[in-house]
Amino acid sequence: MDYKTVIIIGGGLSAMVLADQLAPTHQVTVLMKVDTSENNSVLAQGGIAAALSPTDCWQDHMADTLQAGYHFANEDAVKVLTKEGVNVVRDLIKKGFQFDSSNGALIFGQEGAHHKRRVLHAGGDQTGHRLFSFFYNRLVGSIDLKQEHKLIDLVIEQSRCIGVRCQTANDEDEYFFADHVVLATGGCGSLYQLTSNNPTITGDGLAIAYRAGVELIDLEFIQFHPTMLVKDGVNYGLISEAVRGEGARLLDEEGTPLMEGIHPLKDLAPRDTVARTVYAHYLANKQVYLDISTIDQFDVKFPTINKLCQKAEIDMQDGYLPIAPGAHFMIGGIKTDLAGRTSIDRLYAIGEVACKGIHGANRLASNSLLEALVFPNRLASAILESTLTKRIDPVVNTRNSEVYQSLDLPPLDTLQKQMTSHAGIVRDQFGLLKLKDWLESYPIHCPLDQVQPKQRERVNQLLSAWLIVTSALRRTESRGAHWRADYPNRSKDWDLIHILRFKYHDKHLHNKTCGIMSRNK
Ligand code: SIN
Repeated sequence: MDYKTVIIIGGGLSAMVLADQLAPTHQVTVLMKVDTSENNSVLAQGGIAAALSPTDCWQDHMADTLQAGYHFANEDAVKVLTKEGVNVVRDLIKKGFQFDSSNGALIFGQEGAHHKRRVLHAGGDQTGHRLFSFFYNRLVGSIDLKQEHKLIDLVIEQSRCIGVRCQTANDEDEYFFADHVVLATGGCGSLYQLTSNNPTITGDGLAIAYRAGVELIDLEFIQFHPTMLVKDGVNYGLISEAVRGEGARLLDEEGTPLMEGIHPLKDLAPRDTVARTVYAHYLANKQVYLDISTIDQFDVKFPTINKLCQKAEIDMQDGYLPIAPGAHFMIGGIKTDLAGRTSIDRLYAIGEVACKGIHGANRLASNSLLEALVFPNRLASAILESTLTKRIDPVVNTRNSEVYQSLDLPPLDTLQKQMTSHAGIVRDQFGLLKLKDWLESYPIHCPLDQVQPKQRERVNQLLSAWLIVTSALRRTESRGAHWRADYPNRSKDWDLIHILRFKYHDKHLHNKTCGIMSRNK
């Protein structure tokens, strides 16, 4: 094996950005669960928030990020994001990426909780897709890209991550070993019934990391997006907040503006506030609409959303889009430092599965594409600077398939229903405990070596759900995206407290599902 090897698991934007940086010096293998079209980055309609406008500065962007995140974010991480983000976006433009502009000047869009217009778009609502293609096209031929490889487990030897076990399309195990292993497996939106996420994004990276003893953090914070296009119970996809940035308004069934009197920023209030307001109507069986009738050239500004509306047979003259909130972004995840290092040597995490504390308790819109540019660059530098120690030879157990157990597991849609009802936009102890008991009635902690290949992914999904639910139970306050009906206030006691769980393999801690730590400032 060549010593300069890196495995990246996941095929979204952060994976591509990291691969782009390392391809000239490393042998890079990217393992994708399905293929290059099945990820969240290509769906990202929002843009990139970056303080490039002459009337803006990174300090203002930082202040908005901290405020939207209810001052729960790691300030050092937010400073890196907003300050380095400016140069990273400038470099991207130098490399030839084209953002929307008018007469040679960049166009800055508006999204919720930003006090300035600072969101850059490409092709209107196609920013994620264009960015992904830009990096992917640069990489063709220079990396080994393997599709249909589902990550099942990490291989840890002598406290170091040395590789991964994947399951191929034929349900066969395939091992990959490398000097550096990077998780870029994305979030967990598809653990919920309504989501803006690609169906392949089900949080399995969390379970896999947990089982390997990796530290996880802030899992109770799941961000819901207020405006999914949902007609007659069918989810057609996201309607970007940028649509409200262009003047669209949320209306109730009587045509009354929904956000009037709720928040000074009205329709552009922080996302958690808008999502909860829409959800309250949804629970009362009242339809909420997004009125886009005031937006000129909607089809030009929002070509992707326009297509979704056509698919849903919406009357665009009328301009009323039926909406409902859906799971959108996993704020917590695998705890990393500012270079993406996890608690396990040679294992790193980037993108949505990683948590550096940038998003606090509620992510500011369009900060995650920026995150996907800034932090993979930092990880690439850390990997380039790292000195290689002696390789550890893997011990691979060949298993006898007769030992596989056939487990009684629920279908994914049942899990999604349970998560939506009890660990969704509003939670309480009664529902969370009920859900935890239900999850624990399945063998979620079963070592995957004993599980039939076809069932392993479901075990990982159930375990990820359990991690989210136990975190949500522990945080007895309401803050940002974590809203407890039984603890409706923010509590000072929780100001610096992050819920952390670790050491799946440690017998001493195994029955103790949660540890609590104070953030190191
Ligand atoms: C949106 O376009 O509304 C989503 C953008 C984001 O979540 O950052």
